[in-house]
Amino acid sequence: MNAPAPDTVSFGYEDIPASEKTARVGGVFSSVAARYDIMNDAMSGGMHRVWKDRFVRRLKPREGEQILDMAGGTGDIAFRIAESGASVTVADINPQMLEVGMERAAKRGIDGLVWTEANAETLAFPDRFFDAYTIAFGIRNVTDIPKALREAHRVLRRGGRFFCLEFSTTVWPGFADAYDAYSHKVVPQLGKLLAQDADSYRYLIESIRRFPDMPTFEGMIRDAGFIQTGVEPMLGGLVAIHHGWKI
Ligand SMILES: C[S@@+](CC[C@H](N)C(=O)[O-])C[C@H]1O[C@@H](n2cnc3c(N)ncnc32)[C@H](O)[C@@H]1O
Repeated sequence: MNAPAPDTVSFGYEDIPASEKTARVGGVFSSVAARYDIMNDAMSGGMHRVWKDRFVRRLKPREGEQILDMAGGTGDIAFRIAESGASVTVADINPQMLEVGMERAAKRGIDGLVWTEANAETLAFPDRFFDAYTIAFGIRNVTDIPKALREAHRVLRRGGRFFCLEFSTTVWPGFADAYDAYSHKVVPQLGKLLAQDADSYRYLIESIRRFPDMPTFEGMIRDAGFIQTGVEPMLGGLVAIHHGWKI
C-alpha cells in the first residue's frame, strides 16, 4: 500500500482532502447502485457469492442474536445472516444502495430486516448493543478506518465478534500479475459496457490497491481493542476474512 500524503486520504490512486472522500465515495455508489448486483456477478464471475457464503458460515449467526451488517448496501450479507433467524440491522451511508436492498428483500419475501442510513464512523447505536458486527467490501471505502473500527468495538457487547470481508493483496505471484491486468484493463471496460460507468469501477479497483495488506489491517483491528484477531485469506489473499473478539 502507498500511504497517502499528510492531511489527505486515498481515493483510488488519487490523494484527496479527507473532508472530500465521503462525498466522492457517495457519488460512486449512487452511480452504481442500480447495476451493483449484476456488476458484482460480472466482475467476479459469480465468485463473490462463494466468498459471502463462506463469510457468513464463519460468522455462525444464531437465532435471537442482534447483528449489525455495516455498509450492508443491497443486502447480500444480511439476507444470508437472516436465514439463521438472527435479527439483522442493515446500515449504509448511501440511501440509493439501501433502496435497492429493500426492493430486493421485498421481491424475495424477506422481511424483518431493519434498514438504516448511517456512517460507519459515527453510529447512533448504544454501547454494547450487538452480538456481532459484519462489514463486507465496505471498510476500504470509509474515510477514517480506525474511527469506524472503534465504533464497531463500542457497539458490540462483551463476547461480541467482528467480521470483515475485504479485498486484499494476493501473495500468489503469477495470479497477482494476471489479476492486476484483469482488474485494470477489463473491469473498467465491463463497467463501461454494463453500467455505462468506467470511472466508478476504476475507483473500486484502485481502492483495493490502496487498502492495507493483511498484517497491517489486522494490526488496525487490534488497535481498535479487539483480541484474538485472525485472518483467513482466499485465493492467496485476493480476498480475506478478518475477525476479532471484544471482551
Ligand atoms: C462495495 S459495497 C458493499 C455492499 C455489501 N456489503 C456487499 O457486500 O455487497 C460498499 C458499501 O459501503 C458503503 N459505504 C461506503 N462508505 C461508508 C461509510 N462511511 N459508512 C457506511 N457505509 C459506507 C457504500 O455506500 C456501499 O453500499
